Amino acid sequence: MSQLPNVHVTTDAITDLAVDVLVVPVFRGAIEGPGTDTALRAVGLSEVPRDASFRGKPGEVLHLAAPGQPWGRVTLVGLGRLDELDTAMVRRAAGAAIRSLVTSATTVATTLPLVEASVGSIQAAAEGALLGAYRYEDARGTPSPARLTDVTLVVPSSLAEGAAEALHLAELHARAQCVARDLVNAPPNRMGPEEVAAYVTELLDDRVEVEVWDEERLRAERCAGLLSVADGSARPPRLVRLRYRPANPVASVSLVGKGITFDSGGISLKRPSTLMDAMKGDMGGVAAIVGVFAALPDSRVRVEVHAELCLAENMPSGSATRPSDVVTYRDGTTVEVLNTDAEGRLVLADGLILAAESDVDAIVDVATLTGAVSAAIGRHAIGVFANDDDLLRQLLTAGEEAGEPSWHLPLWEELSEGLESDVADLRNIGDKEQGAGASVGGLFLRHFVDGTPWAHLDIAGASWRNSERDHLSKQGTGVPARTLLCWLEQAG
Ligand code: BES
Ligand code: MN
Ligand code: ZN
Repeated sequence: MSQLPNVHVTTDAITDLAVDVLVVPVFRGAIEGPGTDTALRAVGLSEVPRDASFRGKPGEVLHLAAPGQPWGRVTLVGLGRLDELDTAMVRRAAGAAIRSLVTSATTVATTLPLVEASVGSIQAAAEGALLGAYRYEDARGTPSPARLTDVTLVVPSSLAEGAAEALHLAELHARAQCVARDLVNAPPNRMGPEEVAAYVTELLDDRVEVEVWDEERLRAERCAGLLSVADGSARPPRLVRLRYRPANPVASVSLVGKGITFDSGGISLKRPSTLMDAMKGDMGGVAAIVGVFAALPDSRVRVEVHAELCLAENMPSGSATRPSDVVTYRDGTTVEVLNTDAEGRLVLADGLILAAESDVDAIVDVATLTGAVSAAIGRHAIGVFANDDDLLRQLLTAGEEAGEPSWHLPLWEELSEGLESDVADLRNIGDKEQGAGASVGGLFLRHFVDGTPWAHLDIAGASWRNSERDHLSKQGTGVPARTLLCWLEQAG
């Protein structure tokens, strides 16, 4: 992972801070935030400059020179409307400001945590700063230039006591998200199923229980989905099973991840091929779960957490699965594969069956499952499906806390008819007329959880971006690692 800056807090006056850049908040309508007046007067301005490119909208930045001041520069960052301010906006603004400075400043200080006097806003500002500083550098031949090392958060003295815990949580959550980003961003020739399994083993082995099933074991265990999807690839599939056991756990959950290290569509080849490069990110579900596990040993999570990471590559070849092939799962279910591009649900079925067998209290699967989820709720949001109202509400609340937009989508019973096969128990796609592709995918998955309380997060949109924005980087976003951590921290 790229080196993230150190984040500190201070209760000193901003005029006593010697840093390269001071970041101060501005709301829509040129409304100044904490410290903004002092900073503006120091650079010789009596008010927020009228600049066509800066209106105080969320994430906008304006850099001003500050000759003769303790800070070399002042950066104004927009927070949108004052009456709509929330903690998520603090995270976004900190991310946008730091992202704009990460290659040009070594030390930055900001008054952003002061806009909302809460420990949560200290954590959010720190998370935003860390996430905004992230860059993927592992595949460059030349080392990256000198860059940001230290971010200082100005906090009210009344909150200084809780600040250490807030910084600890921020570092944990940001690290989880950046581990997830690294995995998504890694080129698929470097990170096939075996390499991901090796990476996870290396990252976690001495901290949580790690078990890797190779193709031989997968055959013995009748994990038909992983084997079928991997049939067209020169790279064998892997199932990575993780277990985090805190002392006296209050509950147990299993996280099941889709880990298609590259999705070409298989024999049902994707078109147009010009958009296929983003399919290196088809293991975003596994990536987020690995991020969570990287954080768990240092967290206060009291829940026993299992993971089933379903890793395979989906390629066309003479040995690939054909549309109309039927596969038989370890629970006896037979599935007719009518479209080899609906491969995520095939590998997840193996993970869900194993999760249900392990008798956990709840199962949550995380998957870049359908393009349809983006059509329904947008690229930025996570679609949440569930067979259990409590679990659903917990996850939506966690998404809000994490600032990762999540929306409940339906599992209409009548859509299940589309999954009826002429020859097998199920087919892996719905019928063309019915629409609601994200829900149909969810209903397919539900079949395998055997009544266990379960939720499905479709992150096909949210785990990838074509542009940077706020605290989110290009390509892998690392979503929903923080939503999952918030959820696990709340339980117990
Ligand atoms: N990995 C894709 C879904 C996807 C699409 C992820 C866009 C990220 C961005 C998945 O395997 C897939 O191909 N889904 C099909 C399902 C269909 C064949 C039922 C889809 O969405 O078209
Ligand atoms: Mn696919
Ligand atoms: Zn896929």
